[in-house]
Amino acid sequence: MFSVTSTRKLTGRRSSVFYQDVTGGLQASQKYLQSKYFYDEAGDKLFQQIMAMPEYYLTRCEMEIMQHQSPAMAALFQGEPFDLVELGPGDATKSWHLLRELLKTRVPFTYYPIDISSNVIEWLEEKLPLSLPGLQLQGLNGEYMDRVEYVEHISQRRKIVLFMGANIGNMTMQQAILFCRQLHDRMRPGDLLLIGFDLKKDPKTILDAYNDKQGITRAFNLNLLKRINRELNADFDISQFEHYPVYDPGTGACRSYLISRIAQQVHIGDETVISFRENEAIYMEISQKYSLEETYYLARQSGFSSMHEFYDSKNMFADILWQRMP
Ligand code: AVI
Repeated sequence: MFSVTSTRKLTGRRSSVFYQDVTGGLQASQKYLQSKYFYDEAGDKLFQQIMAMPEYYLTRCEMEIMQHQSPAMAALFQGEPFDLVELGPGDATKSWHLLRELLKTRVPFTYYPIDISSNVIEWLEEKLPLSLPGLQLQGLNGEYMDRVEYVEHISQRRKIVLFMGANIGNMTMQQAILFCRQLHDRMRPGDLLLIGFDLKKDPKTILDAYNDKQGITRAFNLNLLKRINRELNADFDISQFEHYPVYDPGTGACRSYLISRIAQQVHIGDETVISFRENEAIYMEISQKYSLEETYYLARQSGFSSMHEFYDSKNMFADILWQRMP
């Protein structure tokens, strides 16, 4: 099993992108770390546990959509042969349902899962054909935009792109617009994009999903400090940082912070010393929640129009199908 996002090997300490990103973030006036670095081996395992937690409704909701509404999705994909490109497929347990329906329609298609982790790609290439006989699959290891461009280059077929798991929520609205525009520029008029959005709802339900009783999300955030200790030779005292998530029902932004319990100094390698004031916060992650109108706004701003919305039975989550505008 693999999580949606995955580990990238970072080496060479001071010169590494990881070192630059970490020290740059911790030297900013509002200290921050990038949530893409959560997913080392331990982070992948913790994220698997998060997805199974009673409070974390997102995965169950999207799974319900895919289990029950894949036939309707597959019907909307009818027509000419196509390429199905999935960004960050994880172990493809959700898209598996759609793939099975698409195989039944007999419209020829090739499935291109794209992931930064070669382990994820190798695993999918080995396992998926066993449970989905006849599936044409070409796994692509690398950065999303680069690999989407590659698929566009090697195949003239129309494209259907999947970006599920509420991963769009780990971007601000401005970052999401930029990301979707980049996809737009690599797609052709009429191509389709299916995005998973976690919707605005009872604020307590949202906050609980990021503040579970067992403390798994807390461990998930603190694990990044452990990773920095290990990979960048730092000396964070994990017990001196507290996990603090907040949800703003006005903006829909759920943000996680780590709060320094005391005034303290942290060394990163031999060169960098970071000073913390008592109660100073490190901003760790955004998990943006959307209203339907905000998804329309995002679509318009990035050159797509909304075609169809698929909801779970409690209307907590939506997978929304967009069409690329000319
Ligand atoms: C991967 N991503 C959609 C998760 C989310 O809900 O923002 C990451 C996560 N962070 C804490 N819990 C889950």
